[in-house]
Amino acid sequence: MSILAKHELLEKNASLLLVGSLLVVTIGGIVEIAPLFYLQNTIEKVDGMRPYTPLELAGRNIYIREGCYLCHSQMIRPFRDEVERYGHYSLAAESMYDHPFQWGSKRTGPDLARVGGRYSNEWHVQHLTNPRSVVPESVMPTYGYLKDTPLKIENVAGHLKANRVVGVPYTDIDIANAEKDLMAQSDPNADTADLVKRYPKAKVGDFDGDPTKVTEMDALVAYLQMLGTLVDFSTYDDASGYR
Ligand code: HEC
Repeated sequence: MSILAKHELLEKNASLLLVGSLLVVTIGGIVEIAPLFYLQNTIEKVDGMRPYTPLELAGRNIYIREGCYLCHSQMIRPFRDEVERYGHYSLAAESMYDHPFQWGSKRTGPDLARVGGRYSNEWHVQHLTNPRSVVPESVMPTYGYLKDTPLKIENVAGHLKANRVVGVPYTDIDIANAEKDLMAQSDPNADTADLVKRYPKAKVGDFDGDPTKVTEMDALVAYLQMLGTLVDFSTYDDASGYR
């Protein structure tokens, strides 16, 4: 039988064609999927990445609760216009401790992946309380009530534990100290040596301008101020050559 005749057999027999097609798709699928089972990690390791501090994690929960991701992405794409506006394009490793990740799919406002350190704490509080007072044309909603809402801290250790279940490497010490770490990070007078040793580059201070209580505003601003600040891009070896 010539090869043409063999193929004619397939083309004229629907069941045989179906079995043949499934076989081909299966081989293609295995070739794509099987290597992933043998790779230790599909995310390139990058120096500087660490899990969120308890206060940052609490702020991140508020970010999600308030739906900030509906207007803000956290994903700088490797295009010149984005890199010039927002900074180095996002690395996969930068969202490795995000469950769920906050890449977003809509930008009514700017990307926030590297907003940390770009503005002062006071600016953030003013902006979140009344966006129009600092950016007159802004369409962002107001979030002033966060400053009046005490942060729930009793459950922060539970949030760390839940993140550990999905792979974030919080230690028993981190979990045992969660509440203490949270209070220390939001208190400019606290002894934070231990906190900063376990969470390098953690920014400490009174974030919302009211040192008498820890509010949801403290947590959200602490979170915003760390975004994109962990990886030192002056030492990062950029294999793609794109900057
Ligand atoms: C309805 C859409 C919308 C929502 C929801 C929203 N924002 Fe915005 N945001 C904007 C727009 C538009 C701007 C640009 C104008 C401005 O700076 O106010 C902006 C700007 C910002 C900026 C300044 C960014 C920069 O680089 O200048 C920050 C920080 C920010 N938003 C944080 C938040 C946080 C945190 C939340 C959730 C509590 C949030 N936004 C919710 C629309 C939104």
